[in-house]
Amino acid sequence: MKIHLPTRDEVRHQIWKELGRATQDRHHAWRTPVLATVCKNGFVNARTVVLRAADPIQGHLQIFTDARSPKVTEITDMADAVFVFWSSRLGWQIRVRVNMSVLTTGSTVETLWQRIKHSASARDYLSTSAPGSPLSADASEAGEIDLVVSNFAVVNAQVIEIDWLELARTGHRRARLTSDAWEWLTP
Ligand SMILES: Cc1cc2nc3c(=O)[nH]c(=O)nc-3n(C[C@H](O)[C@H](O)[C@H](O)COP(=O)(O)O)c2cc1C
Repeated sequence: MKIHLPTRDEVRHQIWKELGRATQDRHHAWRTPVLATVCKNGFVNARTVVLRAADPIQGHLQIFTDARSPKVTEITDMADAVFVFWSSRLGWQIRVRVNMSVLTTGSTVETLWQRIKHSASARDYLSTSAPGSPLSADASEAGEIDLVVSNFAVVNAQVIEIDWLELARTGHRRARLTSDAWEWLTP
């Protein structure tokens, strides 16, 4: 039986299709990639985030965060970052090199905040203390939250390059793709 291997155009199309699905489907493996950034002192940092948007036309990914979180300082200091996605269903890893920018004000932030401010995740951006700051012994985050004061931030990522790796019994494949180029690599 002849196996159909997706062509480069099909792979490119499916990568963006799966990224789009991941923003809608809580159970999609690509919903929670690891985002790696570099600190000013050269140390690397990485954490899991939720993928909120993926735009194949603009080549954009988007996440939400707390404006006070260390990653925001890291991104502001050094815009280059990498998202790592793995899906066992697809047998695909993608490492997406991006250039990031943080938005804390403006109509995009306001519109998205209006959309999520009554959801459970809004609490993530309404804590009185910054993420990663030490908790005092009697600290409690319970109680009423003020929906006016938020530290909600939107992080946009312009995709520069995708390193795609397919693990398959028929043979692994790997390629590096940009918006207008494709290069096959040794897996
Ligand atoms: C499944 C999962 C999803 C997460 N999603 C986000 C997210 O979308 N945005 C975010 O800022 N932190 C998210 N976090 C928390 C981060 O991994 C991290 O702990 C936190 O943002 C502090 O990171 P930083 O100190 O590097 O800024 C998530 C953690 C997990 C386990």
